[in-house]
Amino acid sequence: MDKHTPLPTSLPAWLQLNIHQSKIERLHMRDLFAEDPERFQRFSVEACGLLLDYSKNRIVPETMELLLDLARQVELPCWIERMFSGSHINNTEDRAVLHVALRHGSDGALPEGDSDVMPAVQRVLEQMDTLTQAVESGTWRGHTGKRIRTIINIGIGGSDLGPVLAVEALERFHHEGMQAHFVSNLDSSQLNQALAQSDPESTLFLIVSKSFTTQETMCNAASAQSWLIQYLGDPTAVSSHFLAVTSKPELAMAFGIGPKSIFEMWDWVGGRYSLWSAVGLSIALMVGMKHFRGLLAGAHEMDKHFRTTPLERNLPVILGLLGIWYRNFFSAGSHAILPYDYALRTLPRWAEQVEMESNGKRVSRDGETVDYATCPVIWGASGNNGQHAFFQLLHQGTDLIPADFLAAIRCQEAWPGHEAALIANALAQSRSLMVGRTDEEMRRSLKESGLEGEALEAMLPFREYPGNQPSNTILYERLNPRVLGSILALYEHKVFVQGICWGINSFDQWGVELGKQVAKGLLRDIQSKQLERVRDGSTMGLMAYVRNKSKWDKK
Ligand code: F6P
Repeated sequence: MDKHTPLPTSLPAWLQLNIHQSKIERLHMRDLFAEDPERFQRFSVEACGLLLDYSKNRIVPETMELLLDLARQVELPCWIERMFSGSHINNTEDRAVLHVALRHGSDGALPEGDSDVMPAVQRVLEQMDTLTQAVESGTWRGHTGKRIRTIINIGIGGSDLGPVLAVEALERFHHEGMQAHFVSNLDSSQLNQALAQSDPESTLFLIVSKSFTTQETMCNAASAQSWLIQYLGDPTAVSSHFLAVTSKPELAMAFGIGPKSIFEMWDWVGGRYSLWSAVGLSIALMVGMKHFRGLLAGAHEMDKHFRTTPLERNLPVILGLLGIWYRNFFSAGSHAILPYDYALRTLPRWAEQVEMESNGKRVSRDGETVDYATCPVIWGASGNNGQHAFFQLLHQGTDLIPADFLAAIRCQEAWPGHEAALIANALAQSRSLMVGRTDEEMRRSLKESGLEGEALEAMLPFREYPGNQPSNTILYERLNPRVLGSILALYEHKVFVQGICWGINSFDQWGVELGKQVAKGLLRDIQSKQLERVRDGSTMGLMAYVRNKSKWDKK
């Protein structure tokens, strides 16, 4: 275990931030912009192909100074070094946290205990190279000799979301004639949908599970295997159609996958940080290793930026600290992620896991129950669609909801008129959320529309826009593998910064275990038709109801 770390609330910077918050809480960003013509220059940074404008936040220069003091007082630079040097910062599992090694390229050694992890990383990358080339060239074929045309990734959580996001985001780079499906849900409707669109003779299944015990994945993998054998009429067909990515090769072999078809991953890669490993095999098969390596290069660039850039110009540090500012000093309960780039439509779902599974903790690294808020609810959707769905709440709801706007200057596939309209909408939303509309402006506009007197006054409260809703804007030229890598690594490191500030271990996930155990027990009961075991009244009632309606007893 690490040395005892003081809770952040006891640090001088935290106390000063509290005092500072009460001084500036009533300031309106509209006025802050009016007073400081340099505000955009002061509060924006460019790095790794990304421009981060954080000027539309409820901050003044002193706020950033105090937040940076907090980062120093929690020893953030030292923790960053500890991560990169393979120290076991995942203390409850006694593991290093080295997803940065997966994209470290030929930039030297990265240690884990007494050894360097890089040779193993390179070995798996070469194995991925060989496989993707074999599939692309047609040397790897299905059991009946057909070329592989369909990839079905079976995995859940980190073994699904990152690959889904990247495969969608990089559609412009897909190999022609290849399609990918992702199956994660226990409800076999999702598997059926994928199978219905696939030809067993030309389908390659990737069974992706770090633990190789995850119920959803194992269940889907077994059904996919039966489907394949049923169609091809030969159990030996499995070897040409199934690959595994796992840190438990012995379990993959027991499932029937040969050692050469197993891609290794390691304890020091957390599931939600694993898309850079062979977990990203579906990405590599869809876009080729050149672009997969481009993705890694973009993430590595962000890693170097995070490790070496002074805190005040460090993108993940700034994003992380602003998140702390709203969560802990304005009690903001949620944070929205709003990509104005259709390619990034799954970014909010991916970020939900990275942020909430990492920092949704109520106990410090030392096991102390914390007396301050940690991870907010992360949510969002493609911004343009969100405008016509939930933005009403951002504009006129009762909560302070900080948001990240992400927008490409150039779209993926630009029809005339779309590109400019899309970016105009993104900028219009962040501006409207920030400035709102004063009573005076509203009066004027209602008058212009023909309203006056009592009717105008009655309408005013409904048409009021308070504004002062904070947001960050992240702009990039056009999404490509490299930019995508940088964006995803930016969010990973933002989570790291916040975990350090909150004094929690961002790399375990004990909270998900209880539900898994309870589900196992209930499944056993259902299978053995023993519903008498005493549980809470609600669960007993629901189980009895389900039993009466289902066909279990009749089987
Ligand atoms: O149950 C949560 C979790 O362990 C996630 O952390 C992980 O990404 C997911 O399940 C899948 O795990 P695995 O890759 O071991 O199947």
